[in-house]
Amino acid sequence: MTVAPYHHMLAHFPVALLSIALLIVLLRGFSDTDLARRLDHMLPYVLGLGLLGGIATFISGLVVWPIEAAISTPMGRNKILIAAWMLACWTVVLALRLKGGESVWKPGGKWLMVAMGALGGILAATTGTLGGHLLGSPSRLSGGLRALGWDVYHTYYAPGWVLAVMIATAIVAIVVGVSAARARHSSAAPAGLPEGVFNR
Ligand code: HEM
Repeated sequence: MTVAPYHHMLAHFPVALLSIALLIVLLRGFSDTDLARRLDHMLPYVLGLGLLGGIATFISGLVVWPIEAAISTPMGRNKILIAAWMLACWTVVLALRLKGGESVWKPGGKWLMVAMGALGGILAATTGTLGGHLLGSPSRLSGGLRALGWDVYHTYYAPGWVLAVMIATAIVAIVVGVSAARARHSSAAPAGLPEGVFNR
């Protein structure tokens, strides 16, 4: 049995649902209208379904070709890498929205949502483009990626200093997150006292 037609079919789910999620993130990020707020209530469901479809597409992609063939070609490696980043990026958007609730759209949080959504959109478009290359129907997006310095026919490569900056940024983010959580915890009202009384 060939899996390729199923992979093509499944790919429509993450592409469509995550594109809708991106539109909602952009709309809510730049607007506080009733429509934007109503659409935002749907966002966790759209993201959840998009991610489930993405995981199914990812798994089906891994068996389109024998895995040895996929991981021994730069294009196959790039496809796996970018598709995994894309799913990770949208998982972060979903986690932020679930954890932050509607307050994630307050100034500060909303720019993180917009930035992560835009990155997820770019990674989704790149994933589809690489699929086109694997199929022999390249799109023009790869020309844009080449102009930015990445030729998709070569395995994506990040210099050592980029990895060092990423690890340092992750450590700083963890330290900031833990100290912010501690500060919030220590300023919370003790049990039994109304918050206003304690914080006055
Ligand atoms: C969420 C993840 C993924 C998405 C959204 C996705 C999307 C796509 C799309 C849209 C195409 C067809 C392109 C076209 O018709 O022009 C395609 C083809 C393809 N993808 Fe994926 N893909 C994903 C993950 C993967 C993974 C992990 C692999 C593993 C290497 C993979 C391998 C392939 C292959 C081999 C083809 C060509 C199929 C053929 O020859 O008919 N994909 N993909």
